[in-house]
Amino acid sequence: MNIEFSFKNKEYKIERYPKTENRSLKSWNAADELLLQHVEELVLGNTSIAIYNDRFGFLSTMLNEFSPSIIINYKSQEKAIQKNLNANKLDFITMQFRTPLDSLPKGIDLGVFKIPKSMELFRLQLAQIAATLDEEGIVLGGFMTKYFTPQMLDIANEFFEEVEQSKAWKKSRVIILQKKKKQKEHSIINSISFQGEIFQQYFGVFSAKNIDYASQFFIENLNIKENEKRVLDLASGNGVLAKMVELKQYASEIHLMDDSYLAIESSKLNLNSGNLFFHFSDSMDVFKNDFFDVVISNPPFHFEFETNIEVALELFREVKRCLKEEGRFLLVASQHLNFKTHLIKLFQEVNIISENDKFVIYECK
Ligand SMILES: C[S@@+](CC[C@H](N)C(=O)[O-])C[C@H]1O[C@@H](n2cnc3c(N)ncnc32)[C@H](O)[C@@H]1O
Repeated sequence: MNIEFSFKNKEYKIERYPKTENRSLKSWNAADELLLQHVEELVLGNTSIAIYNDRFGFLSTMLNEFSPSIIINYKSQEKAIQKNLNANKLDFITMQFRTPLDSLPKGIDLGVFKIPKSMELFRLQLAQIAATLDEEGIVLGGFMTKYFTPQMLDIANEFFEEVEQSKAWKKSRVIILQKKKKQKEHSIINSISFQGEIFQQYFGVFSAKNIDYASQFFIENLNIKENEKRVLDLASGNGVLAKMVELKQYASEIHLMDDSYLAIESSKLNLNSGNLFFHFSDSMDVFKNDFFDVVISNPPFHFEFETNIEVALELFREVKRCLKEEGRFLLVASQHLNFKTHLIKLFQEVNIISENDKFVIYECK
């Protein structure tokens, strides 16, 4: 696990949030370091920088002297960056944090990107920065070579005349984008038709082409009772599960929570009637104890290129705290995750409501 990094004769510590027991998961990788080397060659004292997809704050920490704009996709990312800036005793103002849908300050000179797994998210982000990038501005995109896809270059070419690639260094590479093209309208929303409803979602939100098959199976078997009035859709994505509850009209209060800013903003496009509460959060500490009658979820088990169930397990512990005495936790998961072994440690009763060869739906009480 990498934690310490020496830069310009100073030692920095970058830690992961949320913490992990898996020692092979890192706080940054060679692509971050290669990006930093490229930035060093380009910057002057007053360069105006925007940083994208900095998961735990490595780039935001090393480039702190430029007071960069930091574009935040996830609440957990925002918390990680704040924790690391604080721990390294660096100043920042929350104004530096921008959402992927904000306008950036005019005249950005340099965009520093860790290229995300979702190519649609990359497109949305390039559209955002291209709107305010200086005519002479440059965008650097770092990635591990094993994750290269030709689409990266295709998308870069939609926005820039010149797209070059650096030499590989420690299995990473940087693409250098210059001479931005004249701006045209770029769509940043997908529409998905499902059960007579149209679901809209911003680029980069989970399951872009269709409603996820696990969620479809869950919906076929979803049975919210008439007395279950306060409902949480945990890890709500575009809000499809909450929407199904909304259509049933039993619930008097529907809460949606997701770590992704674009997911929460998408769900606001899809749910619009009744008593709705949207929570852009990675943690259930926003909720009181004994609060919900029922929590429904298609929980996360990976983040970008990493597969890790620790986040889901922490959410399950919190569900237990936030459920009323008689409350129920309904979730769908892939069979291979074998969540039952974890759920029976937390709940008195864990029933299988339905299953097929791929997915299983649990009811926990
Ligand atoms: C499997 S998707 C399910 C999305 C949606 N419910 C659906 O069925 O299409 C999991 C979601 O978990 C979100 N997520 C990841 N970590 C989270 C956390 N700590 N708290 C809340 N949501 C999280 C992701 O952003 C993603 O939208």
